Amino acid sequence: LQIDHAPEYRPQYNAHSFDDKLCLVSSQAFVNAQNQLTLPYLERCEVRDLFKERMTELYDYPKYSCPFKRGSRYFHFYNTGLQNQSVMYVQESLEAEPTVFLDPNTFSEDGTVALRGYAFSEDGEYLAYGTSASGSDWVEMRFLRVEGAVALNDRLERVKFSCMSWTHDGKGLFYNSYPKQEGKSDGTETSTNLHQKLYFHVLGTPQSQDCLCAEFPDHPKWMSGVEVSDDGRYVLLSIREGCDPVNRLWYCDLQTSAQGITGLLPWVKLIDNFDAEYEYVTNEGTVFTFKTNLEAPRYRLINIDFAQPAQANWKELIPQHDKDVIVFATCTYNSLLFVCFLHDVKNVLKMYRLSSGEELRTFSLDVGSVVGFTGRKRDSEIFYYFTSFLSPAIIYHCDLTKEPLQPHVFREVTVKGFDPSDYQTTQVFYPSKDGTEIPMFIVHKKGLKLDGSHPAFLYGYGGFNISITPSYSVSRLIFVRHMGGVLAVANIRGGGEYGETWHKAGMLAKKQNCFTDFQCAAEYLIKEGYSSPSKLTINGGSNGGLLVAACVNQRPELFGCAVAQVGVMDMLKFHKFTIGHAWTTDFGCCEVKEQFDWLIKYSPLHNIRVPEGEGVQYPAVLLLTGDHDDRVVPLHSLKYIATLQHVVGRWSGQSNPLFIHVDTKSGHGAGKPTSKVIQEVADTYAFIARCLSLSWVK
Ligand SMILES: *[C@@H]1O[C@H](CO)[C@@H](O)[C@H](O)[C@H]1NC(C)=O
Ligand SMILES: *[C@@H]1O[C@H](CO)[C@@H](O)[C@H](O)[C@H]1NC(C)=O
Repeated sequence: LQIDHAPEYRPQYNAHSFDDKLCLVSSQAFVNAQNQLTLPYLERCEVRDLFKERMTELYDYPKYSCPFKRGSRYFHFYNTGLQNQSVMYVQESLEAEPTVFLDPNTFSEDGTVALRGYAFSEDGEYLAYGTSASGSDWVEMRFLRVEGAVALNDRLERVKFSCMSWTHDGKGLFYNSYPKQEGKSDGTETSTNLHQKLYFHVLGTPQSQDCLCAEFPDHPKWMSGVEVSDDGRYVLLSIREGCDPVNRLWYCDLQTSAQGITGLLPWVKLIDNFDAEYEYVTNEGTVFTFKTNLEAPRYRLINIDFAQPAQANWKELIPQHDKDVIVFATCTYNSLLFVCFLHDVKNVLKMYRLSSGEELRTFSLDVGSVVGFTGRKRDSEIFYYFTSFLSPAIIYHCDLTKEPLQPHVFREVTVKGFDPSDYQTTQVFYPSKDGTEIPMFIVHKKGLKLDGSHPAFLYGYGGFNISITPSYSVSRLIFVRHMGGVLAVANIRGGGEYGETWHKAGMLAKKQNCFTDFQCAAEYLIKEGYSSPSKLTINGGSNGGLLVAACVNQRPELFGCAVAQVGVMDMLKFHKFTIGHAWTTDFGCCEVKEQFDWLIKYSPLHNIRVPEGEGVQYPAVLLLTGDHDDRVVPLHSLKYIATLQHVVGRWSGQSNPLFIHVDTKSGHGAGKPTSKVIQEVADTYAFIARCLSLSWVK
């Protein structure tokens, strides 16, 4: 089970041919010139080597995923510590010695080709998997016979933002691809992604013979994905046109479509509007359970009988809670439902009876996040992965056949050389400008004196219904341990922390709330004595890069340093490049007058001015992006830094540096090899240390 069922094409840390050709030569020269300014500056930061050395040491701990069962075998991912990519292992039983099954480190010499998605056939005898090069969203799919890990000849190309769902007969699988386009398709192009189609690939046949199962010629922005029901009988098609948590739901009953999968499927349009989200949980015959936000911003589970589909016949199975949000729900061991909630940004895991919705028990967890869960309807056991700011990983195992149910620790990972008991995590609720209480986690050394002298690292995202739950980060802990730092994570509006209400309060006309909430987080840290403006760094990536850049434009005096990764900086043009059009659900689009008026007020590129006020200047700025980022194309960061240097950098009042670093063979973030991750954090914190004059605490 993938915990994040959400669209993977959000700008998350995640015009045209004429412009392209015109810019090709000069933008390459511009990038080279910028890197030649930035790299020597970073190299002269004393902390850089120390940080890199310590990071290499502390990051070198074993990383495991939850085991999962396919057919009769168990699989899991494992990284010994510093391997560039995690390796998939197979075991005949949980007690058996694991052996390497699929090693992405062999996909390329330098670790820049990553595994991107995989799906086993129902009987566990075949594996379909995607690979992506240099961090691009483009995927090439390949196939293995599981017995002996034999590579098959099948290859699927032009795959992007794709589902991978096998029919239970094992004949083949559904996937998505885009029509051929002019010019490059290696992730360095900016051409727009429209007219995604759904295909069925029959194992052992060439891609050219694949069967087109769904297309939407009148709706170029629509994107689809299918899931085959637990009993193998139904194909459920979910259609989205952007990143909002809403979808159409069409289905096809494979038992009654006699001819099999030979052309466009005879879809039954169960839900044919974008009013709410419907996510398949399971079905018993014709009675389907969905997780939905229909009349429930914090989500609920409902049953729809396909034999009586009128809305009047829908039944509620688990009602919406007063405060907690349902993150995911999954059916295991035929009759049980495991439902994970978010309660004030901390996860809670509960078990229910599928037939009645009766709550059976709560699985106790510390303050933190469930970031992995495995166990399907046919399985009789579950594994779940817990993590938090100071705890890298605890994997629990629970055998559902043994009463009373008793989860036990299957694996617990500790990091040598870092004692979590020296540190503390607190959650505070601070008021934003309009009085809304915003949750924020703060991590620091125990006994810290709140005298305003400490450096702080404030992180936020604020958009697309994404919740920023507690997570373990070695680089941030090194900042806390060796730079005397305070780590703060603000759960600003726009995220999904309190359901769709929280998301809607930080999008479209209300996008400014995200920036205001983040600035109020900084003011809180200063007022309470955690830090002071000259010691405060803000950080975010993608939509969070937009957050950082907008805040720097609006309140330059509030921050000492700002690091924005792969940010969305041009709010008037973002919809023209690659998958940018899908983000108009959160941002709006400048082609609509009213929406132009929202965007022009905060678009980072269009709001750079020489700051007013005695002694006020821009904080030290570092932008990071990659040449193969085809989610948020690098031109956003390039144009922002060019304008910033032109307007602010030339001005005599500006002494803080304004830099960009563009990495090569690097994309939006997914699949980044460990060696690049380590280099990036070493550069980031070295920059912060130099700009804020922080010394290394032994
Ligand atoms: C990871 O890749 C880099 C090159 O990108 C290589 O130098 C390094 O040795 C690799 N790491 C491991 C553990 O193989
Ligand atoms: C939105 O967030 C909620 C709460 O975490 C989650 O249940 C839902 O699946 C998310 N939807 C999308 C499309 O991200």
